[in-house]
Amino acid sequence: MKIFVDSANIQEIERFERLGVVDGVTTNPSLLAKEKSDPALQTERIVKIVKGPVSVEVVATDFEGIVAQGRKIAGIGSNVVVKIPMISEGIRAVSLLSRAGIMTNVTLIFSPAQALLAAKAGATYVSPFVGRLDDIGERGLDLVRDIVLILRNYQMKTKVLAASIRNVSQVVECARLGADVVTLPPEVIDKMFMHSLTDAGLRRFLADWEGLEKQLGREISPFKK
Ligand code: E4P
Repeated sequence: MKIFVDSANIQEIERFERLGVVDGVTTNPSLLAKEKSDPALQTERIVKIVKGPVSVEVVATDFEGIVAQGRKIAGIGSNVVVKIPMISEGIRAVSLLSRAGIMTNVTLIFSPAQALLAAKAGATYVSPFVGRLDDIGERGLDLVRDIVLILRNYQMKTKVLAASIRNVSQVVECARLGADVVTLPPEVIDKMFMHSLTDAGLRRFLADWEGLEKQLGREISPFKK
């Protein structure tokens, strides 16, 4: 399963690039607005940092507008994915852009039927929003399960990109369900590193080593010549 970072923040994106654990980035208008800098420049900066796919969303809702913005966004870089909302004008644009070889990510997917239509139109990714369904008392992970099953039943090429992920157990469940990608806020990736037994184990290893050094009365490094 690939991991994308769901952020438009340069420092966060650079931090995860350095760690080598993320495969791409997703942004959306809200995330870009949070950065309070010119969205076009911000997007160009992100695309320069990241080698993997970077999703950038259109803000038009009519077919012509979506196509025009989609072409501009795709022109930013060969790794750019045009993010398009799940509306009929959007799906019509996905059909056209995907036939023109432009990668697309259909966002705001809340039902298996929507995912099926997006896949039929040739979307590169569909983004079911797990957390937002959980917020209203529905089961976001069931949606991921259904979409994975449906797309696999017909060997459709569209990849399932689980979005709106709020915690580590949702990440693990998405991996169990066979999602192709999860996009994660920085704080969720940070939490994936954590386990109290890792911290306790490391403390013990280092303390035992220090004990040995005290016993011998000198500093020891097994890795020195
Ligand atoms: C995905 O592409 C979206 O940018 C994102 O995952 C939405 O997450 P939220 O529901 O936490 O805003």
